[in-house]
Amino acid sequence: MSWSSRATQADVQRGLDAARRAGWWPKKALMFHDLEALEARLGALIAAFPSDAVHGIAIKANPLIELLRVVVQAGGGLEAASWEEVRCALAAGCPADRLVFDSPAKTDEELSEALRLGLWLNADHEGELERLAKLGAPSAARIGLRVNPAIGAGSIGHTSTVSRDSKFGELIERAPALVKRFPFISGLHVHTGSQGVGLALLEAAARATGEVVEALDLDWIDVGGGLPVRYTDGDPEPPNVQDWADALAKLPFWGRRTIVTELGRALHAGTGWAVSRVEAVKVIDGTPLYVVHLGADLLLRPVYRPEAWGHELFVLRPDGTPREGSQKAHVGGPLCFAGDIIARDRDLPPAEPGDLLVIRDTGAYTLSMWSRHCSRGLPPVVGIRGDTAVPLFAGERPDDVVRAWSLRG
Ligand code: LLP
Repeated sequence: MSWSSRATQADVQRGLDAARRAGWWPKKALMFHDLEALEARLGALIAAFPSDAVHGIAIKANPLIELLRVVVQAGGGLEAASWEEVRCALAAGCPADRLVFDSPAKTDEELSEALRLGLWLNADHEGELERLAKLGAPSAARIGLRVNPAIGAGSIGHTSTVSRDSKFGELIERAPALVKRFPFISGLHVHTGSQGVGLALLEAAARATGEVVEALDLDWIDVGGGLPVRYTDGDPEPPNVQDWADALAKLPFWGRRTIVTELGRALHAGTGWAVSRVEAVKVIDGTPLYVVHLGADLLLRPVYRPEAWGHELFVLRPDGTPREGSQKAHVGGPLCFAGDIIARDRDLPPAEPGDLLVIRDTGAYTLSMWSRHCSRGLPPVVGIRGDTAVPLFAGERPDDVVRAWSLRG
């Protein structure tokens, strides 16, 4: 699998065969990850950067501990956006010197614990630096400041983070004064956005931040994540990790300062897919509607903002072989609101109850954005290695959901 290639119908079939042999079959829904494809992408990322770079893979893209363990064992680090994610990273065996803590809202207790553990810690704003100073931040800690170079948004406003009105970080022009006041700052952090940000914007943000890192003679720069991916075959070919590294290699910090990266989507999205049983087929105002077990609970953005987000779909027979033919159809999720539609007027093969609907590219920002609306349980997840399936997540049964909502948990 190359950097940007996505799981094909053949990969899906290999995964289903492996899962069947291991005794798993989608009763309602089952999610898959191609672990070798994930390792190949991580290997390409590590190879493209200097050997002292730290690659904090964004846990928010996919927090399954077994998946984080695969990342850590393959030489990756992790980026945590909350204290809970720090705990997930530690549970997956991530060493402190490969763990980046980035939450925009950290408590004093979390800050102290992060200092004690020796994590990479990116402060979001001046008030947090003041609190770190009060907590006695040691000058040897890896404390960075998140900056906003205010160079504009990408094509998706909700996931763009370097427009002037972004809620994150301090405007970059404040960095020199803040570094002077808080000499424990040893690096700067910039995150440009997620999806919808092209190479030019990523490079411009790194250039602006890198100039300040050089001027202040800091030790490291965290260039964030945000390499976009393809969700449809019609999307333009996204930049691959080597293009990104080549662009950064032209900047003065390359080879002189330690580089931290924080990719999530580009590693996980295309290496995962989801399969749901088609539970029913109805006709709504003349158009067939395939009723499936995954909707806005798994695919928040595609359901609520379909103009910006969408996934390609395959229809398989109950034995996993592809259905042929084409008709306009809708695909509806299981939730109790009329908008729970994951595809509208899509050209799809005719489906029958008991068929399998495959949703491509669900490896990132799906389970991690799961909505509890209607209290459906999270689906189980399997990893695929060649022709073998390994369990990654058991999913939630009704008893687990009752426990989650109970007073005693
Ligand atoms: N670092 C920071 C500080 C971030 O906030 C993010 C993503 C990343 C790294 C990883 O970016 P990536 O390489 O995955 O693009 N579907 C979600 C996306 C939110 C992403 C937020 N930050 C949503 O629609 O809200």
